[in-house]
Amino acid sequence: MAGRVTFIATLVVVFVFSCHAKPDPHAKPNHNPIQTGPPVFVKQIKNAKLYTAGKGDDVIKVLHLWGTPYEMGYAHGTILKDEATDLLNEVWGYLEKQVTDAINGTLPGFFQEWFLKDVADLGLDIALDLERAATKPFTPDYFDEEMKGISDASGVDVKKIERIHMLGELTKGSCSMYGAWGKAVPMPGSVMQLRALDWASDGPFQNHPQITVYHIDETNSNNGHTFANVGWTGWIGSIQGMSSKQMAISEIGVSYPDDTFVKESRFGYPFTYILRDILQFDNTLDDSINRIANARRTCNLILGVGDAKLNTFRGIQYSAGVANFFDDMNLRPNGDWHPKIENVVYWGMDWLDPDYSSVLGRQLQTYHGNITAVNTIRDIVSIVQTGDLLICVYDLSGNTMYVANAKKENAQGPKNAYDRPFIRLNMKVLFMESRPTL
Ligand SMILES: *[C@@H]1O[C@H](CO)[C@@H](O)[C@H](O)[C@H]1NC(C)=O
Ligand SMILES: *[C@@H]1O[C@H](CO)[C@@H](O)[C@H](O)[C@H]1NC(C)=O
Repeated sequence: MAGRVTFIATLVVVFVFSCHAKPDPHAKPNHNPIQTGPPVFVKQIKNAKLYTAGKGDDVIKVLHLWGTPYEMGYAHGTILKDEATDLLNEVWGYLEKQVTDAINGTLPGFFQEWFLKDVADLGLDIALDLERAATKPFTPDYFDEEMKGISDASGVDVKKIERIHMLGELTKGSCSMYGAWGKAVPMPGSVMQLRALDWASDGPFQNHPQITVYHIDETNSNNGHTFANVGWTGWIGSIQGMSSKQMAISEIGVSYPDDTFVKESRFGYPFTYILRDILQFDNTLDDSINRIANARRTCNLILGVGDAKLNTFRGIQYSAGVANFFDDMNLRPNGDWHPKIENVVYWGMDWLDPDYSSVLGRQLQTYHGNITAVNTIRDIVSIVQTGDLLICVYDLSGNTMYVANAKKENAQGPKNAYDRPFIRLNMKVLFMESRPTL
């Protein structure tokens, strides 16, 4: 009996801690001017050119890479040796601390439960290696080759790099997305898309934001095409990014599913790699739908893929058990807090999060017909208060991306990315960068 009382008490605590707060009804619009200057050249080496975008405390690295997967990794680990080493070592330290807190119960909801059990039983290294083994048979060699390149150039143990790249499968980020087209946007035929990342803004990530542009040799069509991955120095998985096919990805980790998710699995293709494959290899949204439908999927997620060539966007309910594709007509879950909006697909923070989804829906309805990057930045993400760590607003038809990052250590100004200045990037120009002649 005493055992049962404790068990119930623990459940209550877990729920209260991991349930998100609500958007503050007094949240303020983001009136920071958008930073529009072109990226500033820093340096180049064989197979890599480094620029910075944005000003002052909000500078983001823009790294261009060329060559084979190994050569790209090697160039990445060479031109940003210190930064990649710092990020990887800091993430490792962060992971160790989070795991300790999670196991002693002070950080509920951050990790998958099965992973914590593995760590408690076997230790962190072995638990991560088990996860690596569970995904390796489904993972193509080019990811391993790129990580080997980063390792050889930076000196960071390749095992550590591989283990860190399991992070997406093990943690539960909460995030928001929308896709808007047709009658929702002012320019006929245009597509707008959002991905706001709410996750681990107390860790090392916000100090190392990076847009990595992979310049793919398109003379061999098996190689795919040029794309930009928005993440961090030394990190090669994708959770947000845009491709030269005017397509982009969004992703939300699901902590509050319903039974329509059916089941999760740890054996399969890490979703951060599927998302990168979408950027690199998919020519249209239909390719992505096929890819996702046929993938060996793993955990509960919501994904989003937009395609300006087809003037549309789909949201995807994603798990080992299901792949359901949503437009504005069949959007789920149903609820008065998640009304259907013409030519818009959206979720705030989770599958079942009435507090955030209803405010996001309200702001999208307010701007319906006029959903633009400027209005999204000023009055949507800031008022919904989503995207504490990193935000991408994609104007797919305009080949433009707007990025904001959380406050870096020792920086001035507000903490959350949604309250900070956004940086505008002309993706057409980024994708046309010429290879260094070294
Ligand atoms: C949990 O571990 C952290 C160390 O990471 C420590 O600071 C904290 O006091 C511990 N809490 C409990 C309840 O043991
Ligand atoms: C669209 O929004 C902009 C502000 O970003 C505003 O200036 C413009 O008047 C709006 N257009 C319509 C038709 O509401």
